Amino acid sequence: MYRDRIRLPSLMSKVMSAADAAALIQDGMTVGMSGFTRAGEAKAVPKALAERAKDFPLKISLMTGASLGNDLDKQLTEAGVLSRRMPFQVDSTLRKAINDGSVMFIDSHLSDTVEQLRNRQIKAVDLAVIECVAITEEGHLVLSTSVGNSASFAILAKEVIVEINLAQPLELEGLHDIYIPSYRPTRLPIPVLNADTRIGSTAVQIDPAKIVGIVISNQADSPSTVLPPDTDTQAIANHLVEFFKKEVREDRLTNKLMPLQAGIGTIANAVMHGLVDSPFHDMTMYSEVLQDSTFELFDAGKLSFASGSSMTLSASKHAEVFADFNRYKSRLVLRPQEISNHPEIIRRLGIIGINTALEFDLYGNVNSTHVCGTRMMNGIGGSGDFSRNAHLAIFVTKSIAKGGAISSVVPMVSHVDHTEHDVDILVTEQGLADLRGLAPRERARVIIDNCVHPAYRAALNAYFDAACAKGGHTPHVLREALSWHFRLDETGSMLPV
Ligand code: COA
Repeated sequence: MYRDRIRLPSLMSKVMSAADAAALIQDGMTVGMSGFTRAGEAKAVPKALAERAKDFPLKISLMTGASLGNDLDKQLTEAGVLSRRMPFQVDSTLRKAINDGSVMFIDSHLSDTVEQLRNRQIKAVDLAVIECVAITEEGHLVLSTSVGNSASFAILAKEVIVEINLAQPLELEGLHDIYIPSYRPTRLPIPVLNADTRIGSTAVQIDPAKIVGIVISNQADSPSTVLPPDTDTQAIANHLVEFFKKEVREDRLTNKLMPLQAGIGTIANAVMHGLVDSPFHDMTMYSEVLQDSTFELFDAGKLSFASGSSMTLSASKHAEVFADFNRYKSRLVLRPQEISNHPEIIRRLGIIGINTALEFDLYGNVNSTHVCGTRMMNGIGGSGDFSRNAHLAIFVTKSIAKGGAISSVVPMVSHVDHTEHDVDILVTEQGLADLRGLAPRERARVIIDNCVHPAYRAALNAYFDAACAKGGHTPHVLREALSWHFRLDETGSMLPV
């Protein structure tokens, strides 16, 4: 069954059960697991670890690329296995444990985790658990639907457990471009010149002697949970398409646009889907997650190449894409997340970064992570890697949440992930605010006029007037600045009483 997947014969003796592999994970270890946005995560070993912890309690620090699928964060949380978790998650059970303080969550830029590991700024990875489609004749690792941080985890860890997942198609071999930057300060420039430049190897080069266990698994990635576009997300997409057309008319962009990045979630996916019916063509993506919309753009003849760090698809799109993967393969590459999200490459290629806000304020500061300033949602992910360095840093959100009880445009954000200095364009279904070249008072005017839901517009105008009467470069009435969040906490709604 798996002899064509373990091509170094001496490694056959390392095949073991998931339970035996999980027993190699000791209390107090730092474990690096594959997985990025619910794609390509190790599946059997973490599940077995959660089972084992019921009889033999233990705690580990768990690092991944980004979020895990197959309810693994839920199972590990419920089994009490996680003491620390980084750098991203999307699981409601883990979210609860993070917010009640029982799991320490380190929310960091996705490009930065392995840089910190490599430079010994954070605790070293003791053991890596990596999903692969195959191990080569040299003992190198052929990854599956994500690269994420897997390559560096495997290179930096003392020991490696490999999960060979028979449910992941062998056609994935050749898709990956594994390039590991050398040590600072003598590092050479990373030679990615275009979205389609390949600079590395197709497999992760490790000493096969580090492989202490191989587990054969057979389980698919979890399908993506993004919802189909609705009228609001379609309106957001339409505003952006009109904005891009204007940029083309005014000669700041061509019809190829610039390489596109889109964040995770329903809104970002819907916005990219909106480009299917646009005049733009020969577009490229230099992104991190490739969602359904990437393949819709390929099929519509709009996209010529997509570079990412993972592929996270709905069940139907997954079936469609893998029924004839070779149709897409030459137009795709999966890179380590420190390369897909590398600030210098993003700045140099001139990426258009489209990410999602939970809320933004009058002056363009964006909160992508903390509900009411305290409760973690998912994490900053790659949004900061892109927005700080993008050609156009765009943030999108619906103007209201929870049936109108929450305005996504507030006087002052309750937590800042992206400062006003990193934000060019804000879009809600109401309209688009182009903040480029504007001073704070001008930004506020454009944001109120274009982005705020009508139910909140008068209140935000009144706040801005009162703030301007007090003066300042960035006017605020500090006593009132978070009053909308207080009201939400006390009455269940931000709506003025
Ligand atoms: N306050 C409280 N809750 C809010 C909110 C606000 N201001 N704005 C949105 N929400 C809630 C929604 O009601 C929804 O809740 P539900 O799941 O209970 O229905 C949830 O947040 C998700 O919002 P939705 O409108 O469906 O958007 P989304 O699926 O596109 O997700 C983010 C939006 C911000 C949570 C998500 O994009 C994210 O985590 N971004 C940060 C990381 C990132 O940008 N990564 C990009 C590269 S990895």
